Amino acid sequence: MANEKMWAGRFAKALDKEADDFNSSLHFDNRMYKQDIEGSMAHAAMLAATGIISAADAESIIAALGEILGDIQSGKLSLCGDGEDIHMFVEAELTRRIGDAGKRLHTARSRNDQVAVDVRLYLREEAQGIVSMLKGLIGVIAEQAEKNTETVMPGYTHLQRAQPIVFAHHLLAYAMMFMRDVDRIEDAVKRMNLSPLGSCALAGTTYPTDRAMEAKALGFDGITRNSIDGVSDRDFCVELLAAFATVMMHLSRFSEEIILWCSWEFKFVELDDSYTTGSSIMPQKKNPDIAELVRGKTGRVYGDLLAMLTVLKGLPLAYNKDMQEDKEAIFDAIDTVKQCLTVFPPMLAGMRVCKENMLAAAQKGFINATDLADYLTKKGLPFRTAYKISGQAVAYCIKEGKVLDSLTLEEYRGLCPQVDEGVYEAIDLYTCVTKRISAGGTGPDSVKAQLAFVKEFLEA
Ligand code: ARG
Repeated sequence: MANEKMWAGRFAKALDKEADDFNSSLHFDNRMYKQDIEGSMAHAAMLAATGIISAADAESIIAALGEILGDIQSGKLSLCGDGEDIHMFVEAELTRRIGDAGKRLHTARSRNDQVAVDVRLYLREEAQGIVSMLKGLIGVIAEQAEKNTETVMPGYTHLQRAQPIVFAHHLLAYAMMFMRDVDRIEDAVKRMNLSPLGSCALAGTTYPTDRAMEAKALGFDGITRNSIDGVSDRDFCVELLAAFATVMMHLSRFSEEIILWCSWEFKFVELDDSYTTGSSIMPQKKNPDIAELVRGKTGRVYGDLLAMLTVLKGLPLAYNKDMQEDKEAIFDAIDTVKQCLTVFPPMLAGMRVCKENMLAAAQKGFINATDLADYLTKKGLPFRTAYKISGQAVAYCIKEGKVLDSLTLEEYRGLCPQVDEGVYEAIDLYTCVTKRISAGGTGPDSVKAQLAFVKEFLEA
């Protein structure tokens, strides 16, 4: 039989062709070939060290696994075919190359602990890659922030102009979010980084294995404490998917703002031509497709998280084949996050900031009304009274087609006799921004401190 299963002994009939294709995960789990081989090498070394197999067998297993790895990497050995999964593929190839010694590799091991190891090793590496991509993005944010510490713009609530801020402050809000994303991923990796190898099918094994040795060889911080948990647990997938979904949520908010800022209604920024597209019919268009796609792809990653949670919901212990469905969800989420983190940082780095438009928008929205109220409060009025007068000033401006800065002293005195010349300085936009001296606010000292905090994070 061309594709005889390793477990064929118990069966009188081969698996139906359609069922076999349905059952096979090789076409997607083949991307874990390196982790599978590394796990097998560590296992073979442990089997020899504990005397479970001979040193000579382990040596030939490890050497052949190294050759298989090389052949896969060079393209000499193709990972497609009718194998059941990557674990069976590698083992079958090993046995084809070295015969009986290859058949000894699976002693004191099950595919259940094998796949649990492979997924953890794979996720650990990919998570580290995503962390460094996030740090790259945070670095780009910091660079743009550094160039815009004095760029005044309206800060918004309800998408209504609210209070003046500097653009650096707005950008640094995203830096803080992505820094927490890094923390979340690293935290999940820390919990995940325990070796389930040696859990075997679910109950452990009768062989005198050394799980700690395998764990150490594979860079784990220790071993999982319960063999049933070791093969059943996929909560590390859920945690990482949740962290990736949060990254996408942050990217989608940022994308949404960039899309708005690019519109003629705002024109706060202009994206570089190399990160925008044209229209097939409207010659004037310059569309922020890249930012839109990042926003759109967020839905996929949310879907991956929900798929994973749903696969695990109500699943009895220990391994069930449902769990094979973990991989496409995590792979898709990883691929999507990496794609987004490849295009988003350079798009942001090349974004031109239209400082004059930001300032013009800040001048038009009465966003210094709070500062007028604060000014009146400092003149001795209770804040609620000052707030009311400031509101009346805004209403008067709207009626007269003016802004707070262009009201005459007489007009101000008509609203409140305590107003003097100092009002113009108090409601000047630069004053408004620089006077926001509270920690974490938009004032220059705070923005400088935030930038230093971000840089410290990146250097650590
Ligand atoms: N391809 C399987 C998976 O990804 C490997 C584990 C199979 N174990 C089993 N008992 N059939 O889940």
